[in-house]
Amino acid sequence: MNLCKKNIPSDTFTTVDLSDVIEIRRYTRNLAGTLGFSKTNQTQITSAVSEICENVIDFAIRGHVNVKSVNFETRRGILIKVTDSGPGILDISAAVKDGYSTRNRLGLGLPGTKRFMDIFKVQSKPDDGTKVVMCKWVTDRDRFMLQSV
Ligand SMILES: Nc1ncnc2c1ncn2[C@@H]1O[C@H](COP(=O)(O)OP(=O)(O)OP(=O)(O)O)[C@@H](O)[C@H]1O
Ligand SMILES: [Mg+2]
Repeated sequence: MNLCKKNIPSDTFTTVDLSDVIEIRRYTRNLAGTLGFSKTNQTQITSAVSEICENVIDFAIRGHVNVKSVNFETRRGILIKVTDSGPGILDISAAVKDGYSTRNRLGLGLPGTKRFMDIFKVQSKPDDGTKVVMCKWVTDRDRFMLQSV
């Protein structure tokens, strides 16, 4: 079932093709804006979720994406979990380094996302799927930029 195509308000999506990613991007950007991220960070967070979804579609065909707000002590942020049941990643520490790609691409999706997010965890085993959990906190700078620029 594809929740986003049925227009059910939800923070959990099934990603199968690019139209799902468009909906996930829209949802993520809206939530990031509501949480108070600067416009630049809204764009970056949206790119981050896109990169991970693109990997899911390309390597695992489908996966599940959960996007929600999170509070921790005095902090507020956006928490994104992406899981798939695809082939998994053989060498996670290599995969999160610049330039590692098993398909002759730039290999910048995972490392770029890791650099940008405050928390970035990949769990994966060959033939046992991949789970990416990532989080970004709203900062004073976000609030300032949103109000002043
Ligand atoms: N969901 C996934 N399932 C299986 N392998 C994955 C998955 N996500 C990433 N990988 C592996 O990690 C590598 C690095 O991912 P990354 O997104 O950084 O690069 P890429 O997708 O190959 O290229 P780019 O994102 O720059 O276009 C991939 O080439 C692939 O081998
Ligand atoms: Mg990629």
